[in-house]
Amino acid sequence: MSTPPVLRVRDLTTRFHTSHGTVTAVNGVSFDVARGETLGLVGESGSGKSVTAMSVLRLVAKPGRIVGGRVELNGTDLLTLNEEEMRQRRGSECGMVFQNPMTALNPAFSVGWQMREALTAHERGNGTAGRIHAALADVGMPDPERQAASFPHQMSGGMRQRVVIAMGMINEPQLLIADEPTTALDVTIQAQVLDLMKNLTRDHGTALLLITHNMGVVAKMCDRVAVMYAGEIVEEAPVDELFGNSRHPYTRGLLRSIPRADRPRQKTPTLPGSPPDMSRLPAGCRFRDRCVFADDRCENHPDLLAVGARHKARCWKTQNGETLDETALSQEVPHGV
Ligand SMILES: Nc1ncnc2c1ncn2[C@@H]1O[C@H](COP(=O)(O)OP(=O)(O)OP(=O)(O)O)[C@@H](O)[C@H]1O
Ligand SMILES: [Mg+2]
Repeated sequence: MSTPPVLRVRDLTTRFHTSHGTVTAVNGVSFDVARGETLGLVGESGSGKSVTAMSVLRLVAKPGRIVGGRVELNGTDLLTLNEEEMRQRRGSECGMVFQNPMTALNPAFSVGWQMREALTAHERGNGTAGRIHAALADVGMPDPERQAASFPHQMSGGMRQRVVIAMGMINEPQLLIADEPTTALDVTIQAQVLDLMKNLTRDHGTALLLITHNMGVVAKMCDRVAVMYAGEIVEEAPVDELFGNSRHPYTRGLLRSIPRADRPRQKTPTLPGSPPDMSRLPAGCRFRDRCVFADDRCENHPDLLAVGARHKARCWKTQNGETLDETALSQEVPHGV
C-alpha cells in the first residue's frame, strides 16, 4: 500500500456572503499532496487559489466561511479541531508563506524576536540564535546578525519577504503552503529561494503546495499541477503531462499565453474574454463562454474525471476521448486586446 498523503483535501467549499450576493470562491475542491511532493496551483486572478490556501490553514476571514469538506493533515481533519489545536499546528506542522510580508510580520518586534516566536517551544534554547541566523543566511540575507536585530520597516520589501520565507520554513514543517512566495523578489534571489524550497521538500520530505502565476516556476518546481478556474479544479496532471498533453481548453489557453523568447511580447496570445462574475456563474461548464470547443454538452456542468493515468480534466470533450484540435485555436489574439 502506498503511504497516505501529508495533505488530503476533499470537497472543500468556501463561501463569501457579501452585499452583492453569495460567492462560492472554492467549490468542491479535492487534491492530495504527498510527502516530498510539490503540487502547483495555477489559474487566473480571482480563480480561488489564495482562498483555497487560506481555507486549508483555516485562516479565511469574514465574510468568508468554509461551508464543507475535509482538510486532512496526516490523517487529522483540521476542520474538526478547536482554534487552539489549530493554532499549534500552524507554523509547526504546516508552514505558510504569503505574498504580502507585512501581514505576516509584526512591525513592533525585531525580526530575530519574531523568528524565535515562530520556533516551536521545544525547539527553543541553546543555539536558537545560531539557528535563526542560519535560517536568515539560507534565504540570502547578507548579514544575518544585523538583520535579526532589525525591525521590518528597516528592510526592503524583498528582504521582508525573505524573512517570511525563513519563518515559514524554520520548523521544517511537513506541509508548506506558499502563495506567490517569490513574485516580489528579483530574479537571482527568486532562484535562490526556490532552490531552498526544493531542498526542503527533498531533504525533509516536506509536502509543498505552491501557488504561482509563473509557468516557469511551475516547470522548475512542481511534480504535479492543479489548474483552477472560477473556484473549481478543471485539470490536474503530472507537470510534464500538463505541459505536453493538457486536456482542458482553459489550460491550453493558459499555456499559450506564456511569453516565449522566440516570440515578440506583443504577439503572445492572451486568453480571450474574462473570468465569469463569481456571484453570477453560468449554468453548465464555467469556461463555456470563452471556449472555442464549446458545444451543446457544455450546458451541463462536467465533473472532474480521469482522462489518463494520474490525469483528470473537467471537460466533456476530452472525457469522451475526443482530441482538442489546435487549429481551432490558431487565431492569435494580440497581447492587451
Ligand atoms: N474578502 C472577500 N470578500 C468577498 N469575496 C472574496 C473575498 N476574498 C476573495 N473573494 C472571492 O474569492 C475569489 C477568489 O479569490 P482568490 O483571492 O482566492 O483568487 P486568486 O486565485 O488567489 O487570485 P490572484 O491570482 O489574484 O491572487 C474572488 O474572485 C472573489 O470573488
Ligand atoms: Mg491569490
